[in-house]
Amino acid sequence: MGVASIAPFLAVAGSEGSIPALGKVPLVGSWLASMAHRDLLIVMGFVTILGLLTANFLMWLTERVRLRYGAFLIHALREGLMVNYCARPYGYYLATNSSVLLKRLTHDTFQFVNGVLVPSLEIISRLVVLLLLLVLLLVVAPGITLLAAAFCGLIYGGSLAVLNSRGRRLGHQMNVAQRSMLQAAQQFFGAIKAILLHGKTEYFAGQFLDASAISTACSARAGLLGNLPRYLLEPVAFGTLVGVVLVNAANGVAMATILPKLSILALAGYRLLPSFQAVYGQAMNVLSNVYSIGEVADCAHQDAAAVGPPQLPVHFTQSLRLDAVSFSYAGGMTPVIQDLSMDFPKYSKTGIIGPTGCGKSTLVDLILGLHSPTKGRILVDGTPLATENITSWRALVGYVPQDIYLLDDTIAANIAFGIPEAKRDLKKLRQVADAAHILAFVENKLPHGFATMVGERGVRLSGGQRQRIGIARALYHGPEILVLDEATSALDAETEKDVMNAIYELSGKITMIMIAHRRSSLNRCDRLFDLAAGSVMDSPAPKSLGGIHDLTHPK
Ligand SMILES: Nc1ncnc2c1ncn2[C@@H]1O[C@H](COP(=O)(O)OP(=O)(O)OP(=O)(O)O)[C@@H](O)[C@H]1O
Ligand SMILES: [Mg+2]
Repeated sequence: MGVASIAPFLAVAGSEGSIPALGKVPLVGSWLASMAHRDLLIVMGFVTILGLLTANFLMWLTERVRLRYGAFLIHALREGLMVNYCARPYGYYLATNSSVLLKRLTHDTFQFVNGVLVPSLEIISRLVVLLLLLVLLLVVAPGITLLAAAFCGLIYGGSLAVLNSRGRRLGHQMNVAQRSMLQAAQQFFGAIKAILLHGKTEYFAGQFLDASAISTACSARAGLLGNLPRYLLEPVAFGTLVGVVLVNAANGVAMATILPKLSILALAGYRLLPSFQAVYGQAMNVLSNVYSIGEVADCAHQDAAAVGPPQLPVHFTQSLRLDAVSFSYAGGMTPVIQDLSMDFPKYSKTGIIGPTGCGKSTLVDLILGLHSPTKGRILVDGTPLATENITSWRALVGYVPQDIYLLDDTIAANIAFGIPEAKRDLKKLRQVADAAHILAFVENKLPHGFATMVGERGVRLSGGQRQRIGIARALYHGPEILVLDEATSALDAETEKDVMNAIYELSGKITMIMIAHRRSSLNRCDRLFDLAAGSVMDSPAPKSLGGIHDLTHPK
């Protein structure tokens, strides 16, 4: 079909009278043979147009199915990876560079489908076509076909055997280079301020470009590998043919005697070569993308384990208790937290102090259930925190981290984190912004108030403004327990006092755990706990200490 269907039409157009061969056409042969030339031409014209339309419609349909199926698979893979990522513990993200995950989600899923799955299917379909072609040619000229097939098979099979490890290696090198490229680009834009300041654009741009050079060179080499035997085979195959003709001509052999066989050989080669080449090319394509199976499967494998058990409700009416908790980071030499027991009664206000690096943020991460204790337990009203109740527990906690991540979105979206615009409560937004002492700034200084975009990571805001948005975010969700990790460190003394006043106004309504280097912001806590010393340092308000004597400190 296709373009080939125009040949009979041209043959009819070129002939003057009737065409006897048409009589052999099944069913309509005698009818065609009896037609006048002009009528025949019209019929053939219509048949040709119909043939072309059908062929092209089928081609469009096949392409559509292929593309849609490919797109569906890529999306399904991404969905699988995302589901998996959603269920991963925090420790996984601490141990894995985000560029690796980003690459898997965007690039590797695409490569897996278009570089492994689709070519594999194409190899199968090409092999079927090749087999049919061989059978057809074997019927016509068995000897010559066997010779041509053995020759092609030997060259392509041999090339594949010799070059397959090279193809895999190139794929692996490309993978590593692409990972480095993404990481270098992310670092370049993430650290652009420091890079500009230190005049290190050349060094950091160089990191990206070095990786890019490797990636593109490998990609070019892999492309060349996919075509290599063709450059050898075509001249050899057709050169042999020409050679045979020349030798016979020189020996005075009549062309008419060898030409039929030669033309069959040429036809066999002409038909077989592209099929062999297509199978080989796609096989090389698969080999150089085989790395993507590992990248994609690495996450997809754990789907079953990643789907957590259904969440049980958590009731926090009495206390949060750390029971002989120890924690070490994966690969860490010494435990960051060791055998720590603490009690946080409901509505208590605990200040945690200690020198930098002593484990304050780690302790908070344990309380938030972002890490699981290496030893010991964390109990809420006596119930240990575990995978089946951790999401319920986190819903009760408001947390202001040391470094707040702001979304490249509006102030409102940043405060009502993860709540779609239609469901945001404007009254509550204003309330929490007021408590965090950011309301006046948002409403009077920003061009679009709560609808003002803050820029990537909140670059259009000051450090103190970012922190106050973080505090408003923690309050918006109406937490029962509020955890502040250096939440006011970027504020001037006056603003810090105002913000802390607003937070202390929540006394008796929520439980507070606060980390601060500045003692002044902790002066209204029930108790202070020095994590490095493992002891209660201070008890600014002994009368309301419920639980202070439960602090044990064998660090
Ligand atoms: N992901 C991690 N992997 C390995 N070690 C880590 C990791 N995060 C932190 N640490 C180590 O754990 C220790 C405690 O870190 P942590 O962030 O809890 O300290 P901190 O008391 O909050 O310090 P700061 O006052 O500076 O915020 C540090 O020595 C740090 O190097
Ligand atoms: Mg910290």
